[in-house]
Amino acid sequence: MSHPNPHIDKVSILGQETICLGFHIFDYLLRDTLSNFKASTYVVVTDIHLQHLYLDRFTQAFHKISQEIFPSSAPRLLTYVIPPGEESKSRAVKAEIEDYFLAQGCTRDTLVFAMGGGVIGDLVGFVAATFMRGIPFVQIPTTLLAMVDSSIGGKTAIDTPLAKNPIGAFWQPKRIFIDLSVLETLPEREFVNGMAEVIKTAAIWNESDFVLLENGAEAIRDAVLKPVRNVEFQGATLETRTTAQQLLLQVVMASVAVKSYVVTHDEREAGMRGLLNFGHSIGHAIEGLVTPKMLHGECVAVGMIKEAEIARYCGYLSQVAVGRLTRCIQAYGLPVTMEDKLVKTHIGNQYCSVDELMQVLRVDKKNMGSQKRIVMLSGIGKTLEQKPSNISDGIIRKVLAASTVVHPRPVNVGPVTLSPPGSKSISNRALVLAALGKGTCRLTGLLHSDDTQVMLTALTKLGAATFEWENNGDTLVVHGNGGNMHIPDSELYLGNAGTAARFLTTVSVLVPPSDVAGQKTILTGNARMKQRPIAPLIDALTANGSELKYLESKGCLPLEVTPFSYGLAGGEIQLAASISSQYVSSILLCAPYATKEPVTLVLTGGQVISQPYIDMTIAMMKSFGVAVEALPNNTYRIPQGAYTNPAEYLVEADASSATYPLAIAAITGTTCTVPNIGSASLQGDAGFAVNVLRPMGCTVVQTETSTTVTGPPIGTLKPLAHIDMETMTDAFLTASVLAAVTQPATPGGENVTKISGIANQRVKECNRIAAMMHELGKFGVTTSEFDDGIIVHGHDIASLTPPKDGVKCYDDHRVAMSFSVLANVVPGGTIIREKKCVEKTWPTWWDDLEGKLGGRASDIDLGPPSEHHDYEVQSSSSSSKKGVSAKSDATVVVIGMRGAGKTSMGQFAAKVLRRPFEDVDHYFEKTLSTTIPEFIKEHGWPAFREQEAKMLIELLEKHPTGYVISCGGGIVETASSRETFRKYTAEGGVVLHLVRSISEIEAYLNKDTTRPMYGESMRDVWARREGWYRECCNYEFVVAGQQLKGIEAEDAKEWALVELNFERFLKVITKSGAKGQKRASRAQIAAKPTFFLSLTFPDVSPALPHLSKLALGADAIELRVDLLKVPDVDVSFRDHVAQQVSLLRRHSDLPIIFTVRSVSQGGQWPDNDTQGMVSLLKDGLEWGVEYLDVEIGLPRNEIDGVLARRGNTLIVASWHDCQGKVAWSSEEMEGQYRLAKSISPDVIKLIGTAKSMKDNFECSEFATNHTAKAGDLPLIAMNMGAQGQLSRVLNNYLTPVTHKLLPVKAAPGQLSARDILTARHIVGLLPMKQFYLFGTPISQSLSPLMHNTSFQSLGLPYNYGLHETASVDESVVERMRAANFGGASVTIPHKLEIMEKLDEITEEAKAIGAVNTVVPVVDESSGKTILVGDNTDWLGILYQIKRHQSSKQTVQRGLVIGAGGTSRAALYALHRLGVQEISIFNRTLIKAQAVADSFRELFEVKVLSSSELLKAGGSQREFDVVVSTVPGTIDSASMFDESIFGTKRKGVAVELAYTPRFTRFLKLASQAGWATVEGGQVLIEQGGWQARKWVGREWDLESVQAQVDLAQAGRQ
Ligand SMILES: NC(=O)c1ccc[n+]([C@@H]2O[C@H](COP(=O)([O-])OP(=O)(O)OC[C@H]3O[C@@H](n4cnc5c(N)ncnc54)[C@H](O)[C@@H]3O)[C@@H](O)[C@H]2O)c1
Ligand SMILES: [Zn+2]
Repeated sequence: MSHPNPHIDKVSILGQETICLGFHIFDYLLRDTLSNFKASTYVVVTDIHLQHLYLDRFTQAFHKISQEIFPSSAPRLLTYVIPPGEESKSRAVKAEIEDYFLAQGCTRDTLVFAMGGGVIGDLVGFVAATFMRGIPFVQIPTTLLAMVDSSIGGKTAIDTPLAKNPIGAFWQPKRIFIDLSVLETLPEREFVNGMAEVIKTAAIWNESDFVLLENGAEAIRDAVLKPVRNVEFQGATLETRTTAQQLLLQVVMASVAVKSYVVTHDEREAGMRGLLNFGHSIGHAIEGLVTPKMLHGECVAVGMIKEAEIARYCGYLSQVAVGRLTRCIQAYGLPVTMEDKLVKTHIGNQYCSVDELMQVLRVDKKNMGSQKRIVMLSGIGKTLEQKPSNISDGIIRKVLAASTVVHPRPVNVGPVTLSPPGSKSISNRALVLAALGKGTCRLTGLLHSDDTQVMLTALTKLGAATFEWENNGDTLVVHGNGGNMHIPDSELYLGNAGTAARFLTTVSVLVPPSDVAGQKTILTGNARMKQRPIAPLIDALTANGSELKYLESKGCLPLEVTPFSYGLAGGEIQLAASISSQYVSSILLCAPYATKEPVTLVLTGGQVISQPYIDMTIAMMKSFGVAVEALPNNTYRIPQGAYTNPAEYLVEADASSATYPLAIAAITGTTCTVPNIGSASLQGDAGFAVNVLRPMGCTVVQTETSTTVTGPPIGTLKPLAHIDMETMTDAFLTASVLAAVTQPATPGGENVTKISGIANQRVKECNRIAAMMHELGKFGVTTSEFDDGIIVHGHDIASLTPPKDGVKCYDDHRVAMSFSVLANVVPGGTIIREKKCVEKTWPTWWDDLEGKLGGRASDIDLGPPSEHHDYEVQSSSSSSKKGVSAKSDATVVVIGMRGAGKTSMGQFAAKVLRRPFEDVDHYFEKTLSTTIPEFIKEHGWPAFREQEAKMLIELLEKHPTGYVISCGGGIVETASSRETFRKYTAEGGVVLHLVRSISEIEAYLNKDTTRPMYGESMRDVWARREGWYRECCNYEFVVAGQQLKGIEAEDAKEWALVELNFERFLKVITKSGAKGQKRASRAQIAAKPTFFLSLTFPDVSPALPHLSKLALGADAIELRVDLLKVPDVDVSFRDHVAQQVSLLRRHSDLPIIFTVRSVSQGGQWPDNDTQGMVSLLKDGLEWGVEYLDVEIGLPRNEIDGVLARRGNTLIVASWHDCQGKVAWSSEEMEGQYRLAKSISPDVIKLIGTAKSMKDNFECSEFATNHTAKAGDLPLIAMNMGAQGQLSRVLNNYLTPVTHKLLPVKAAPGQLSARDILTARHIVGLLPMKQFYLFGTPISQSLSPLMHNTSFQSLGLPYNYGLHETASVDESVVERMRAANFGGASVTIPHKLEIMEKLDEITEEAKAIGAVNTVVPVVDESSGKTILVGDNTDWLGILYQIKRHQSSKQTVQRGLVIGAGGTSRAALYALHRLGVQEISIFNRTLIKAQAVADSFRELFEVKVLSSSELLKAGGSQREFDVVVSTVPGTIDSASMFDESIFGTKRKGVAVELAYTPRFTRFLKLASQAGWATVEGGQVLIEQGGWQARKWVGREWDLESVQAQVDLAQAGRQ
């Protein structure tokens, strides 16, 4: 297709139409320039990014068009390309360009095109301004920022090291060509950055432009980020232009026009041009502190909100306007506060204090003294003055500060009147009703909040209605669609807006299927929302025939709704209504739209909660024309039909909010009127004045629509002996602060207020009961709680002291506002932290407190939130986890379901940790000299639980350290026990929750007939207790899920695995763990380089059988949690991850690296779900993983929260530069290193992206510099990308590797461990090594086969050969001292003799008196190679026994047959295994005696005679382990018979001879039902240990085994 003639729009500036806008306009712009501005030379200057994208197109078009216009004498075109980025805006680059121009002979007859973003525009413009005293130039802005801002106005400049833009000139371009199609290649963040300027311009200038932006956010973003490309040059002509493109053009042009207008009227910035600085005064201050981590537009976005808040505080701007500005900015993906996640992902833990910001503002040249010049908005599209206004520092500080100090209110404040914001409940209902209704409805008094915004967005997406604002946002006009809707094209994101989630769930059931089959509606929210319950509603709807599916955790969002043509069926719907009335309202609101029959809603489950809210819904439905019929027994009948919208609907004030101004009147003894709520209110909390304040001593005057309260003299409120606040639960916080300052009605009388009916407040924004108790406690107020409420003691106001570190608000608006009520009377001034949490329902609260209620407040900056160390009160439905690392010697308390293995695992733990074991049940029985069943029979369950709780406390007081204590399964049923656990973990104790799948427990308990069955099913018990166990524990161990078979031998092996797994876990969580073991022992070489395998499976289970192959050569396994997917809807994501950790640990000995990689760091975890990530990281610690990957971009307070509980887990501080933006040689990379180091990790991981080989060398140099010193942390430094592979080869520490069997590589460019080792060998980093077997005769030895097989499959360039000598002569020494010596095996007869040729002998080899392994170790201090003699024979025996028996089989007695060399290793192995009674038998008794004697110093060995040996079997003294060391060639029939295997016990028999394969000994053992170990197995086991000592890691057992089997088969 030939290039169409594009449609061009023009804007004039400085009297000329020099700005041209369109799509695909390169041809046009060249034709225009070449014909109007003739020159002999044209130069285009651009940057590397644009060179790749557009330069060819540009030069081709140039040549084509210049040929057309000047067929004979085409002018020349030069191109000059500079690196992208702000660094190019420098004197040096300017000089380079000028030198280039001069070298090319450019004269005044030259025109320059500046093609690029603001950097190119500013720089090239400045070059043009000064080259030959000024040459013409043309702007081709390619970023949105350049299009709407920097290219317009003629400001050109460069930076110097000291400042931005200090050197420059005004130099107007001849033309500005804005080709909007180039925005399609602009990175999203750059586009969004530019939108800040567009929003700014509309905000100061033109409300209708702003409305376009408000309503068009999605379309405008799509026009750029998801462009439609049906035809070539889409959008060039009006015919091919999409609506989204047109809208984009419209808003960009509007912005351009405003800037042009302003520049035209004030070219040199004398006044009006200063308006364009809206958001920039504070924006620049922020930028000064966070550049370059945040972009200009991002800082301006935050700046705009702060400056708007200043205007609001000063009374120039309404909250509606601030709200609109906020939401508009957010809609484009820009941040609005410095606490925004977007900001945190860029600046990490950096905190911008008020002082620092003020300092930057002070040095701004436009400011002076204690006033700053800031643009004051007076409405959307309007400013207070035609220039910036003077604002005092005090006001700016107040707005910037994150916390406020509320001072006692001055006395003598007269009566006040205040309208609180509209009711959220009524707003939300009104929105749904009007949207579902027919016709247009004007809603006034609507609450502007996140909740209503979420609802508006969702209803719009569903096509339920269209919305517009009138009266500067005071009225919302709803054009309802009468219930017609369609499936939204993207998921409905509901944040943490609970009401919206509940209401919209039923609304989305009404949505019919779309033409595209399979489309569904998805409702989702943030991490907290994903924990909030919704099951009763889903159950009811599902039972009615709708299809709703949980996508993650059962019972919570996200949900997938399958559409049906009939929508909601109708008929009888049963709903459990004892948890939330919102479920009821949700169904009621939608019920009229049932298609098959009218809905009869039956509320089940006993007590109906929050009846007033149900009544409110029904009353409001009536206002919209549908009358609900209330029948007896909590049953409602709803007629079919559609709502009829009233023309107008007034939303009344939020009754909970109204409690705060009224309570201020009550507590300060003054008068307050709330004019928009009264006795006719539908809201339960409207009863607060009459039912709480009046009995407390206030005068209350109420009309149907207004309420006036006058408080008694200050300090004389009366306590309420008991008040049930069930109908106004949200108001209990307000009541509590009043109750804190009561005086008894009669002197000496009761001064306690008991508030009941508020249990639901434990699961609100935070656990509000706990929060109030804790925060009131800080003032000195005594409180206590009970299941249903709180008890508050009254105090003298004068005795209360405000907490030094302030009131913590738990991000809960009601906590903040309640305490600000109290602060009106508490002497001294009360700090309220995180003041902005009030925005949820009353964004102007602090302004109103001062401006309308006569209160006083000042600002305070407490520094970064992470520095406020504080007790956490969280909603009790989520685990209330303590931020403390467990103490290493703390007593381990084991909890869990009965049958989970608490006793046996507890005993095992005690054994492994060498600690005494206690059992709460035993202790109970011992102390009270009774049995538990007897006790219960006599005193009942409650008494038992009470005693049990006491016993727990006693035991913990007695043994706070050094013990293992196991508890009964039901102990968590008692609140006080839970409290004990909580306290214990908070003090650094270990509470370990042992988890086993319920089906396994059931199977196990059913088998065990000695235990009576519960009356209740195990599943029900588990359902009830699960949350409690989680809440009480700080560690969790999942007993890996392989069903125990019930066959004893199988079970034993299974348990052996579980135990090995558990032992590893214990080592991580207690002192004996990982940190101590970091250093390899002297007799073992540390592998270098080390690797970890990145597991990229959505579920590791299918990979487990191959895990050993996959992990071959790796030193750790990384579990990429972000890639995991729950296979089954019934399993929560957390449980799935727990299971995966446990399975991995069970199938591999390698340490686990637990990683949740975020999207921006190259993973899949959503960037906006920090909470989810953090809670998983904490879970990872709870599961005792060896390594935890922590992204340093996480907010610092979150990192601190995680690291506070790091225990022995090693922390990997990671950072990935996926875009390759940061050079290894840059200061920024150093900055990342420092940032990583600042969290005190154990390992630092910095990953770049290579674009050239040079990047790899720089990376390697970086690594060398940072690992040179002895104290340097291990560093993983590498580059991603194909170009970066070399850096993977060069990296020394824990290089992530892949394996060809993995589904996908975890990162681009990843190699396998083998690839890397091979490459290292080729480049000379891994020299060949020679290994030997010394001995004679050795020609039959399998060792060369075994070791060479493994070396090969690991990719090690090593060789293992035989060296047969009669004695340990010079030839042996020569080989061992050779530079390429890798190690040696030593066999008979040299095991003793070799010792004197070595430098060092290990303890084990000394004890056994034989060396079978030589390891050359480089001494760190001297650099010399030391030959260490070690023994692995005993390890071969020990581990084979361990692998064949579990600790459930006691190993009390062991026997070794034979007294040759190997018997010594066997005896030593039994000793190390912990066998209590070790015996030896040999035909020649004296020999046996000599062996036994040689161990005398270490342990005792009993020498058995023949008769003693035969007596042992079948007696009380049966053996558990027997090891035969008699050569296979010797006939053993005369030595022993089957009686040595006894009759009662089933032990392990180990044969050390390996020819023949099945010796008589093994045959007898296996006939006796014993587990048997062949000589070959021991041989391989010990060979594996040798290999491990030589190369530092596991060998390829599978291949070795296969080769040995083959060889043996060949021999037999
Ligand atoms: N003169 C003025 O009045 C004025 C006003 C505002 C800002 N500025 C200056 O503007 C500069 C910032 O400009 P900016 O935000 O445009 O940054 P920029 O010029 O650095 O461009 C941002 C990035 O986007 C790339 N890019 C540009 N266009 C692209 C496209 N179409 N597709 C893909 N990539 C593209 C660039 O290569 C660069 O990496 C600052 O130096 C600032 O001081 C000047
Ligand atoms: Zn700007």
